[in-house]
Amino acid sequence: MENIFIKDLKDFVDKEVVINGWVANFRSSGKIAFWQLRDGSGIAQAILSSADLSEGVWAKAQEVTQETSVKVMAKVAKHPKKDEYELHVIDFNYYQIAEEYPISKKEHGVDFLMDNRHLWLRSAKQIAIQKIRNTLIQANYDYMAKNDFVKIDAPILTPNACEGTTELFEIDYFDDKAYLSQSGQLYIESAIFAHNKVFDFGPVFRAEKSKTRRHLTEFWMMDAEMAFINLDDNMNVQEELIRHMVSAVLENNKAELEILERDIKALENTVKPFHKITHTEAVKMLQDMGSDIKDGEDLGADDETMLTKKFDNPIFVTHYPAKIKSFYMERNVNNHELAECSDLLAPEGYGEIIGGSQREDDHDTLLQRLKEEKLSQEDFQWYLDLRKYGSVPHGGFGFGLERIVAWVCGIQHVRETIPFPRTINRLKP
Ligand code: 4AD
Ligand code: MG
Repeated sequence: MENIFIKDLKDFVDKEVVINGWVANFRSSGKIAFWQLRDGSGIAQAILSSADLSEGVWAKAQEVTQETSVKVMAKVAKHPKKDEYELHVIDFNYYQIAEEYPISKKEHGVDFLMDNRHLWLRSAKQIAIQKIRNTLIQANYDYMAKNDFVKIDAPILTPNACEGTTELFEIDYFDDKAYLSQSGQLYIESAIFAHNKVFDFGPVFRAEKSKTRRHLTEFWMMDAEMAFINLDDNMNVQEELIRHMVSAVLENNKAELEILERDIKALENTVKPFHKITHTEAVKMLQDMGSDIKDGEDLGADDETMLTKKFDNPIFVTHYPAKIKSFYMERNVNNHELAECSDLLAPEGYGEIIGGSQREDDHDTLLQRLKEEKLSQEDFQWYLDLRKYGSVPHGGFGFGLERIVAWVCGIQHVRETIPFPRTINRLKP
């Protein structure tokens, strides 16, 4: 008998096979028992009939509990009505009979589920979310490879801040201090001079004190950086990339989107061009909608929610006031108060998923910015160097994977998008 996976059952109709997995659920009518068998590749119903099994095997089957691990020998059959395949059990062995499982079908509070995150990951919805996350990661790599980006692994331990000093995790580094990286951007900028198009992908850290549905203290960022581009080129790449990633999910994760009861209209819309508005226009629109946002202010989470509900597709908001953005952003040529930057906001209230900009490529201007922001010239000497040896116009962007997963899955809170979320009040398990 061949060991196979549930996803391949269709190729083994009328054959006897072996499946290794877990009993996600079970019910019995006294003479016949039904196990929902889960093996990582899918779920299938296993049918145990007292008439067909030896007395010993049938008796043994009565010991089954939720999450018990089993090796099942069975004959594969097509469901008489549905497009599904079933297992008619011939024999089975237990790997381990599970103790009483804490997560049942009844409603549990989020704190309870988060305390049991190591077990919660097995629930159907959580499996669907991680499968979609996986597709998004693979699609990202796929896009980068097809477009000749070279992956440059940025360090996690850094002596300086990328995105401001207020949200830094500081650690002792022998006799010195180090910070956990907030973004690999500055480091991968050095690699454009060697490779032109580069990216990184890894965990980044922000000591976010905010308890919102969009903030984690550890999350996965993909930074991309390109030489000889302008802001429009930059936005075009972001648009293509997001379209590519969302299409991959629509193509490969129909079943998962169904489990999540995701209305996929907004995802399908991404084939259409993304909208572009300036920060000034966004503020005006928000004021008209009743927001108390003032000219020159950053968009708050509520503003982003309000704004993105007005559009049926992601929107780029460009040219934020420079004073609310990072030191490395180039200024707009026509208006030096504005940064040559864009944020990409996901529709349906999700808000910012990408931040990007043209980078200041002039040595003296950048030095001036560092001084204005009271950042250490010494710590950033290497970054200034890049503007001395063949400086070129360049730009890039960074996405937060969990924000994209939340939007694509249609779930409210980023805490369910990462296997083990870290927030201001959660470090366990
Ligand atoms: O907008 P941010 O801060 O931009 C940067 O870090 C740039 N250095 C990126 C670059 O240009 N290479 O962060 C980028 C993205 C945001 O758009 C958001 O999706 C996500 O990272 N993000 C978070 N996700 C979860 N929790 C948080 N606390 C996040 N902070 C930012
Ligand atoms: Mg941002």
